Amino acid sequence: MAGLANEEINRIQQAANIVEIIGSYVNLEKQGKNYFCICPFHDDHNPSMSVSEEKGLYTCFVCHKTGNVFSFVRDFENVSFIEAVKIVASKVGIEFETGYKETNKYDKHYEAIELALKFYQNNLKSEDGKKAREYLKRRGITDEIIEEFNIGFAPNSYDTITKLLINKGFDEELLISTGLAARNNTVYDLFRNRITFPIHNPQGKPVGFSSRIYEDVNEAKYINTKETAIFKKGKILFNYHRAQNEARRLKYLLVVEGQMDAIRVYSSGIKNVVATMGTALTEDHIKLLKKLNVKIVLCMDNDEAGEKATIQNGEALSQAGVDLAVLRISDAKDPDEYILKHSKDEFVDAINNAVTYFDFKLNYFKKDKNLNKVEDVSKYINQIVKELNKSNDEVLIDLTVNELSSQYGIDKNVLLNQIIKVEAPKITKIEQKKEKKLSKNQRLASILLYYMMNDTKYIKLYEQELGYIPDDNYGEIANDILAFFLKYNYINIADFITYEISKEYYENVLDIIDTNIKVELNDAEYVGIINKIKIWIDENKINELKEKVKSISDINEQLKIADEIAKIKKRMCQNEES
Ligand code: CTP
Ligand code: MN
Repeated sequence: MAGLANEEINRIQQAANIVEIIGSYVNLEKQGKNYFCICPFHDDHNPSMSVSEEKGLYTCFVCHKTGNVFSFVRDFENVSFIEAVKIVASKVGIEFETGYKETNKYDKHYEAIELALKFYQNNLKSEDGKKAREYLKRRGITDEIIEEFNIGFAPNSYDTITKLLINKGFDEELLISTGLAARNNTVYDLFRNRITFPIHNPQGKPVGFSSRIYEDVNEAKYINTKETAIFKKGKILFNYHRAQNEARRLKYLLVVEGQMDAIRVYSSGIKNVVATMGTALTEDHIKLLKKLNVKIVLCMDNDEAGEKATIQNGEALSQAGVDLAVLRISDAKDPDEYILKHSKDEFVDAINNAVTYFDFKLNYFKKDKNLNKVEDVSKYINQIVKELNKSNDEVLIDLTVNELSSQYGIDKNVLLNQIIKVEAPKITKIEQKKEKKLSKNQRLASILLYYMMNDTKYIKLYEQELGYIPDDNYGEIANDILAFFLKYNYINIADFITYEISKEYYENVLDIIDTNIKVELNDAEYVGIINKIKIWIDENKINELKEKVKSISDINEQLKIADEIAKIKKRMCQNEES
């Protein structure tokens, strides 16, 4: 990556306003000089990340993620550094082309999936795909939708795609490991005589397929790509790559169960929709959803399994602090059927009338109960009290208690007494960086370097007064700051990070920024630190000389060294006084 640390990237960095770029992903609020947001890199409930427009940096004081606009985009979008530079460049309207071709050890996997996708797509249009096409047409899947979602058809054959890809130079093992083929003595196609729906990763690359029968046959309705190196079920939501921008724009995302539902909802014009593909939301799914920083509207199928999925996913999402609403459709089996039977507009109305997850549960608990019976009322109330105990929303507690009290004639205080106030949700599982133990001198060096990264006058002072730092890590960083300055004749902390991104000590640079970002720069203080580092340098020298003395037998030489040590000590005293 070293070749990329160039003026071009710095130009993009400087053209990009970090507040605007980060603000396009998360909600930023201004407080004093800086902006704050919920940190997207850990399970944050209070704004812990600060963004400095002036410095071009962000830092989270809980998980200590720190960096510039590129590292933010890289980590948020989960892309490579160079991809992040491209994204930022396009956001600020700078054309950025590197001759740099990234290679990935799974390039062949992606390529195989891409080729299969194209083949299935063409095959659907061929004579072979006629019946599948008719089936799709009957279901109201138009040619436009087929095109948009790259829907295809896997032929009714033992090994067409296998042979095709082998002819193109792919080996059998690779085809098996992409989930396109399997071995049973010989290698054969996994998807046969089925409609294929490509599934993309969050970056928009196709990584696998879901495939559906189209005739009344006694087979699994869907067969999906098994878990592979590039297809991780627990990290993929169908249609996420198409939905994310629209979700941010509209400030909500609809989550449905089936990809057919997502396809229907999307092509009706509601583009902020993803599908779980019938599985429960995993921690990684929830991370993907949280990253959008929008309300989630859960719309599971209208059956008992869908209700269970609503509770299961709802609990996971609300525990993760997601703003959550629930839409239970009626009069249709799933959103696909609902839109076909009613209309897009009615579905939009239904979305607008989605209830809070709490209200959904209030209703859910009534199921299978006869609320004319004292026993059931008691069960019901206890369930609600348990829910209220999870909440620290006083208004919600008060409203609910009032409602229950008037509806079931229970003394309000009896209810209130059962509600134990809970503390604010605790922050779970922060990927805490190990606190590095710094010596007093390293601490000073860290501040010194932070000054130098901010202003060339401190680099000049360092050059005049010190010239080096007696610590391998910090010494190297100091050298590089100086080198940056000599090369470009300016310094800027956010540019310097990019310049150093390929260095082994990159993390140390971020640590320096993270621990010192609140330091207000002040010349007198800087001089004080320089003096203390001079003492550190002298202490080191004295120790070296003392070691040297041990190995020398000539008395005159020994005296010379003793004299030298005395001189250094005298100088140190003067420095300490100043
Ligand atoms: N699913 C699956 N395997 C199955 C059944 C379902 O992987 N045997 C997944 C699919 O991703 C499917 C989702 O679970 O989209 C929801 O299942 P279901 O509600 O049965 O399917 P629909 O989306 O309604 O599909 P269709 O309308 O085509 O029947
Ligand atoms: Mn369906």
